[in-house]
Amino acid sequence: MKFADFPTAESVAKAFQGEIKGKTVLITGITQGGYGAEVARVLTLFGAKVILAGRSIDKIRETAKVIKKETPTAEFRELVIDLGSQKSVRQAAAQVLEFQEPIDVLMLNAGINYQTIRPTRALDLDFGGGKDYDKWAAYAQSKTANILFAVELAERYRDKNLLAFSLDPGASATSLQQYMTKEDFIRFHYAYHPDGRPKGDWLGTVQENSATLRSFYRGYVSYTLSSRCKDTQRERYVDQNGSYLVKCQVTTDPEDLRPYACDKECARTLWALSEEIVGQKFDV
Ligand SMILES: NC(=O)c1ccc[n+]([C@@H]2O[C@H](COP(=O)([O-])OP(=O)(O)OC[C@H]3O[C@@H](n4cnc5c(N)ncnc54)[C@H](OP(=O)(O)O)[C@@H]3O)[C@@H](O)[C@H]2O)c1
Repeated sequence: MKFADFPTAESVAKAFQGEIKGKTVLITGITQGGYGAEVARVLTLFGAKVILAGRSIDKIRETAKVIKKETPTAEFRELVIDLGSQKSVRQAAAQVLEFQEPIDVLMLNAGINYQTIRPTRALDLDFGGGKDYDKWAAYAQSKTANILFAVELAERYRDKNLLAFSLDPGASATSLQQYMTKEDFIRFHYAYHPDGRPKGDWLGTVQENSATLRSFYRGYVSYTLSSRCKDTQRERYVDQNGSYLVKCQVTTDPEDLRPYACDKECARTLWALSEEIVGQKFDV
């Protein structure tokens, strides 16, 4: 399948509409202006049912309203979930288990780039008990954790016919940057002017970068989505299970993917630490 250099999510979804129609996709982080909202808009446009998962019911409804305006037949559910609260996560999980329809894809997109305040409970993994907290290092660690989580998830569910991938969507101006300060812009002087305007053309539009859909559907996840997938294709996707994608391609280039970010031992350690934090063992 050939796409223009910078396809939008919509153009990619159009190409895969047969696979999108009728599927149910749960997307976390669906605030207007961000990647999640754009992906939700595009998937409903092409006939997927979307579960809009966010921590603010007002923001969920705002996105639902925008979608309904464009696609009056759009089907979605609202799911309130604050990923920073174990209680909320467990309540939302119980709600999801009550849903009649199976979920075909989880798109775990929610994130923040850093806390404006130092975390009250610093995990003594790399933050030196909170003393050495650096918000940018913390963001980078959280993204590394996302990659490692997909590695371990793929490993654990290998025999259960589920696939897990992580990806870099590319940079866009979204509400993610809302807390960046003048000091931050100065620190990243190679990328920003001191007043926050980006230097050069490294930012993509949300519509383009939401063509993570492209990595999403270009083959890999289309296996999960398509029962028509041939066995030979299936083998290829299974082989790539747990991979990290940049610019819609699986990469192992250490410039994009540091060895520690895909190290199986690190992935197992992170899984064990996560179980300790949430106080539950997941025997899968
Ligand atoms: N934009 C970029 O340049 C860029 C680059 C690389 C990776 N990413 C990643 O792409 C993902 C989407 O980011 P975005 O740029 O689209 O930013 P965004 O518009 O700010 O989206 C982030 C979403 O996550 C939600 N969220 C944050 N904390 C949450 C919590 N505790 N519980 C539930 N939802 C929560 C936010 O909800 P609220 O509105 O309620 O805060 C928002 O809907 C993030 O994981 C980000 O790290 C972005």
